[in-house]
Amino acid sequence: MATRAALCWRHVAVFAAALLAAAAVVVAGDPGKIGICHGRVGSNLPPPAAAAALLRQNGITKARLFLPDPAVLPAFAAAGIDLMVGVPNENLTFLSAAGPDGALRWLQSAVLAHAPADRVRYLAVGNEVLYNNQFYAPHLVPAMHNLHAALVSLGLGDKVKVSSAHASSVLASSYPPSAGAFDAASLDVLRPMLRFIADTGAPFMVNTYPFISYVNDPVNVQLGYALFGAGAPAVSDGALVYTNMFDATVDALAAALDREGFGAVPIAVTETGWPTAGHPAATPQNAAAYNAKIVERVARGAGTPRRPGVPVEVFLFDLYDEDGKPGAEFERHFGIFRADGSKAYNINFA
Ligand SMILES: *[C@@H]1O[C@H](CO)[C@@H](O)[C@H](O)[C@H]1NC(C)=O
Repeated sequence: MATRAALCWRHVAVFAAALLAAAAVVVAGDPGKIGICHGRVGSNLPPPAAAAALLRQNGITKARLFLPDPAVLPAFAAAGIDLMVGVPNENLTFLSAAGPDGALRWLQSAVLAHAPADRVRYLAVGNEVLYNNQFYAPHLVPAMHNLHAALVSLGLGDKVKVSSAHASSVLASSYPPSAGAFDAASLDVLRPMLRFIADTGAPFMVNTYPFISYVNDPVNVQLGYALFGAGAPAVSDGALVYTNMFDATVDALAAALDREGFGAVPIAVTETGWPTAGHPAATPQNAAAYNAKIVERVARGAGTPRRPGVPVEVFLFDLYDEDGKPGAEFERHFGIFRADGSKAYNINFA
């Protein structure tokens, strides 16, 4: 009896801990609301207040900023928009070396001086460091720890979640989804990061573009599969069936997390989208189809085949075209809105 009661209580405790963790995630960011990324690498961008007003006019109350721009933060905060604030890669060396006190000073002067803590939901520490900025890799987790310690000292340790946005190439294997595994070369950084985000209730953040998967491998990736097309040939993976690449990517990540013993860590898609020009498949029609599907899934809290009933928080990329982005032509054409505030294609967020 005693053993059984003890076991029961352990279950209750584990269950309560799981509930608390789930509650913590919901407090950090509401997965039922779509977010939009606002990059500002462009020469013709509207002022921050106009960008913030445009989001509000469209019923969007959540945005990802790639850096704590002192002109953008107050405008978005004043409009009541909840923020994921990027901590630039260039700042990681300092934040790792400076300890919690240095991180606190940086956080206060770079972020909290410009936006009240109430509006800050996430710090995305570094962007795609493990993909193309290996120089910063050793500084990433120490910087995350220091920023978290700084937040704890402000009483914000549970409210502002600290994570890091990864390119989907963080997976060395993603097909079939159940074979998902992290790139072995990144495990030295990823394992302590996973421990940290699991302990603090933060999500694993990933940027994923089925469009780019299609462009890079049109022979094996069908356009319909990338686009959530009805009737795209499905991929069977054991008992699970995948009808689109978005689900398959999220679940490959879920499998990789499982493999490392962190199967309960939530996944947030911190960038996804579809461009309107610069490639034959980059059309306003395709962009409308892809993004409308993402919006609809987020609104109904859709899970994935491997994690049914677990909503995925998503930030669409991008609010406007960014004509200063380097790389392939399509990189400059992800904007959902034009600079004059009109829609680049028909899409609704309500
Ligand atoms: C780091 O962050 C601050 C505030 O955003 C900025 O002024 C500074 O120049 C950044 N870069 C480096 C290399 O420290």
